[in-house]
This record gives sequence, C-alpha cells and structure tokens, in this order.
Amino acid sequence: MLDIKAIRKDFPILSRTVYGKPLVYLDNAATSQKPSSVIETITNYYQNYNSNVHRGVHALSMEATEHYEAAREKVANFIGAPDSTCLIFVRGTTEGINLVASSWAIPNLGPGDEILLSEMEHHSNLIPWQRVAQITGAVLKFIPVTEEGVLDLENLSALINNRTKLVSVTHVSNVLGTINPVKELARKAHNVGALIMLDAAQSVPHMPVNVQDLECDFLAFSSHKMLGPTGIGGLYVRPSVLKTMQPFQSGGEMVKEVTFTSASWNDHPFQFEAGTPSISASIGLGAAVDYLQSIGMDEVRNHEMAITQYALEELKHLSEDFIFYGPNDISIRGGAISFYSDLVHPHDLGTILDQEGIAIRTGHHCAMPLVRERLKVSATARASFYIYNTESEVDQLVKALKKATRIFTNAYKKNI
Ligand SMILES: Cc1ncc(COP(=O)(O)O)c(C=O)c1O
Repeated sequence: MLDIKAIRKDFPILSRTVYGKPLVYLDNAATSQKPSSVIETITNYYQNYNSNVHRGVHALSMEATEHYEAAREKVANFIGAPDSTCLIFVRGTTEGINLVASSWAIPNLGPGDEILLSEMEHHSNLIPWQRVAQITGAVLKFIPVTEEGVLDLENLSALINNRTKLVSVTHVSNVLGTINPVKELARKAHNVGALIMLDAAQSVPHMPVNVQDLECDFLAFSSHKMLGPTGIGGLYVRPSVLKTMQPFQSGGEMVKEVTFTSASWNDHPFQFEAGTPSISASIGLGAAVDYLQSIGMDEVRNHEMAITQYALEELKHLSEDFIFYGPNDISIRGGAISFYSDLVHPHDLGTILDQEGIAIRTGHHCAMPLVRERLKVSATARASFYIYNTESEVDQLVKALKKATRIFTNAYKKNI
C-alpha cells in the first residue's frame, strides 16, 4: 500500500486551493504534477552547472554531460532497454512517433504496404501515419473497437497479413483506459515480418513496462505524464532497427565529420538528437524516474487499480443518464475514466467541477475519430488518477457530479 499522505507532501501544488477549495487534480492523463525532487533537480542544474553538453572541455560542461547521460541510463533502464544507446531523447510521444514516421517509415514503405492502427488512437499516433500514407502510397488499416471498449481481434489474421509493414497501437487508451494486448500484437506482427510501434504515453507512467518483454520495435512516451517536466520524452528503438534508420533532423550534435558538401553521421542515439537538447528537462526526467522507482512501479499500478475500481463503483451511484466507457475488468484498464451524460454537456460538467476545485478534462481528448465516430458523442468528460489521488477525492468528484446533475435537472424542470 502506498503512503499517499507522505506522497502528497512531495507535491507542493497539491496544497494550493482553487476558488477557495482544495485542489482535486484528476487530469493526470493530460499531464501529471511534479514532486519537489524534480523541481529541485531542474533548479540545481540552472543554479550550479548550467552548460551545454557533449561539446565542452570545461568542468561545467562535463558535469552537465555526466548528468544528462546518467539520466539517459536511468530512463533506458526504467523501460528495460538493453542499453542506453537505443534510447533517444525526444520532445515527447508525439515527436517520438514522428521520428519513426520520418526516419523509418517513409524510407521503407511503398504503395500497397499496410500500416495497421486501431480505432482508439490518439491523434499523435494517427496523423503521422496519415502523412506517411500520403507520401509513400501505403494504406492505413484499423483494428476495430468493441462496444466494451477493447480491441476486436476476431479478424486479426486478416488485418495482419503479408502486406503489413507496421503495426502501431496505443498500449493504454487515454479515453477508454483500455490496456491492449500488445505482446500478442507484437508476435503477430513479427510473424509476417512487420514491425510494431507502441504509443506508451499512458502506460510507462503507470505500470512496469519492459520493452524487451513486450517484444516491441519502437516505443514512445512523455516525461510530463510521469512526474517529469514538459518538452522531453523517450523513444526506444530496437538496436537492429536503429542501425538501419535515416537521420530525423540535421545540424549540430548529430554529425561526425563535415565538409562543405557532405557529412557523416554520429553514433546512436546522438545521430537522432540534432541541436542542443533539453538538458534540464532530461535531467528532470531522470529525477522523475528516481521518484517512481523509489515507490516501485508495481505499487504504482496497484494503487491505480484500487482507486480506479473504487471510482468505477462509486460513479455507478450517479443518475442513470451517465454512460461510462471502457472495460469493467480492472486488470485490463488504466486510471482514466471517460463518461457522458445527455443531461449535462461535458463542458458544463467541467466548468461546474472546476468551481469545486476539481480539475478534469473534457472534449475529444485528441481522439476525435474514436469519440465522434465510435462512441458517437461530441465530447466526453474524463477523470484520470495518479499516485497522489485518494478515495476522498473520488468522493468529492461524485458529490460534485451529483450537484451538476441537480442543477441541470432543476433547470430543465423550470423550462418545461
Ligand atoms: C495515448 C497518447 N498518445 C500520445 C499522446 C501525446 O503526448 P505528447 O503530447 O506528450 O506528445 C498522449 C497525450 O495525451 C496520449 O494520451
């Protein structure tokens, strides 16, 4: 069991109020809060050894390089990468996926090749592939989503076939909370000679993730959703694939020898990190990994399952107008719960909850095709949990939702 009281003390923002009410932060799928250790690590870099990396012989630069590369080691180790040379620092999940699209997919795919996605993808794992398809002539295919909100694998052997060159799916859905059977997909993809990319934006922060165990070829995630700063994230690439990839951006850092007319590329992963990197953010991500590891990712996941289960049970006490999306089986769902009521538009719900100090997300959650075409609503409200959330906060959420329902029911009655 996590000592949530002690954990909450590590997050200065959690003691603030919003409209005079204690903050209840339930928008963790969008971004997480940061512990003091991460904030202090970033401040320490700027106060004590701010300098550029990999290029100076002076003490500050060497210290910055040491901390920067130590952060890479920590992050690589955290996701079970065989070594740190296959962990590229990127701006986040979105940039990681774009890097794979530019550096691997565009040079390797051609007309008629198939890229298999699912219907529950975030725009970050959809639009880059739409662009790859436009450029290369490859075709996008989609694994359907069932009524329950899980992937429909019934026709998988038809969907993963000899034309499939890449399967790219989300590990955990940011809308439905569903944890997808990605290892099974990896095996099926490899059986036909395809590669598999995992959008791990919602899994790496919340559960033990081991790239070798998952047998994936690419995996991207964002620091800001796992207690770290914005502007940094990781892209793992299987070493045998990394060797074959083209540079992503070009300029300083990514080169070895340069003449007026040509250049040779630096070793991995530096070849994919053109320009001055986000040094403070990378080191801050390293501190976030330290914090999560001090708790233990099994404990992080256990807490998420417990609080999500509690929330699902308590939310059932709301009026029958509410629809909840995603699987009920807690073993295949993460800590994001999306819901919808015809009675109160999600944006109104969000505004009323905000007045109570409760932060949730409303909208299409950057998964417009899933929300509009599959769930067939214009928007949903979403509460999402992390290590510092308590059952009492869930109770406050339920109470505020009941209040919103009352306000709108009375308003309708008045209008009749
Ligand atoms: C499943 C999923 N994929 C990708 C992203 C994009 O992450 P980022 O904006 O950090 O690049 C998000 C962010 O919400 C997400 O939830």
